[in-house]
Amino acid sequence: MQHAQRPTWPHKDLLDVTQLTRAELFHLLDTAAQFHDINRRPVKKVPTLKGKSVVLFFAEPSTRTKTSFDVAGKRLSADTFSLAKSGSSLSKGESLKDTALTLQAMTPDIIVIRHSSSGAAQFLAERLDCSVVNAGDGWHAHPTQALLDCYSLRQVWGDTFEGRTLLILGDIAHSRVARSNVHLLSSLGVKVRLCAPRTLLPAGVHNWPVTIFNRLDDAVQGADAVMCLRLQLERQQAGLLPDLREYAQRFCLSPRHLAMAAPGARVLHPGPMNRGLEISSVLADAPESLILDQVAAGVATRMAILFLLATRTGIEQTADNGGRA
Ligand code: CP
Repeated sequence: MQHAQRPTWPHKDLLDVTQLTRAELFHLLDTAAQFHDINRRPVKKVPTLKGKSVVLFFAEPSTRTKTSFDVAGKRLSADTFSLAKSGSSLSKGESLKDTALTLQAMTPDIIVIRHSSSGAAQFLAERLDCSVVNAGDGWHAHPTQALLDCYSLRQVWGDTFEGRTLLILGDIAHSRVARSNVHLLSSLGVKVRLCAPRTLLPAGVHNWPVTIFNRLDDAVQGADAVMCLRLQLERQQAGLLPDLREYAQRFCLSPRHLAMAAPGARVLHPGPMNRGLEISSVLADAPESLILDQVAAGVATRMAILFLLATRTGIEQTADNGGRA
């Protein structure tokens, strides 16, 4: 292979979906598809990132994102190391900058960070030489979730995103997942609808490329997919919702609602779910649900992200050739 013909990945960090061109997005999704095949084999490990190291720095709780980055790194033969807020010197008052510089002194190739402060990942990316991946920062962005959601929808829709309708339902105000998905999917021509009580819509939402609904029966009509969002009670101020039972009556997606959507409509949820509050339990487990497909897509997508950042090269070198040209 000629070096000059090899596609290169131009980004040191992955901080938000807005930094990706359409070509880069599809290159990343194609790379993830190659890794998805590896995840279906009896032996799910390749030597591609042998000798690389990835720090998982999660200052907020996580099951899916943290575990899937860990699995992704290990399946690529990278060494992965975890740091949580509890048990680290962050809990003794060490600053984010000092913690990050300390980690960098151990020469990782990539730091994956989740933090409650919007902008935390960018703050590190500007100060560290290694790559930084935003695994969720405050209410701001969750780019790897939006990328895996896009991957999951591509498995159903193929490359026909233009003209599809996606309804995002629930606690939009506190959702970094919603922000990243609105950016990414609307840039592909998806018509994005939002449905939430007024108190759970963010300030400035009227400037977003979306249509806003207050009634779920109206919002779901003809939708090709519905993404339910968790009610983030831990981030809410008192008084945003007077009554959880009334919320569930008005905004919990049920089979009755899905029957009003487009034929073949699918249901997504980034997790973790409050069954019976934003999504009915029966729908969460229904054949229309992509929720566990999203989890599987998360491993493949995060393998692609680690690969592209660690090698800054392109798709020809993925999978089985161990990073050799
Ligand atoms: N979707 C998501 O970010 O889930 P976790 O909080 O479990 O990582």
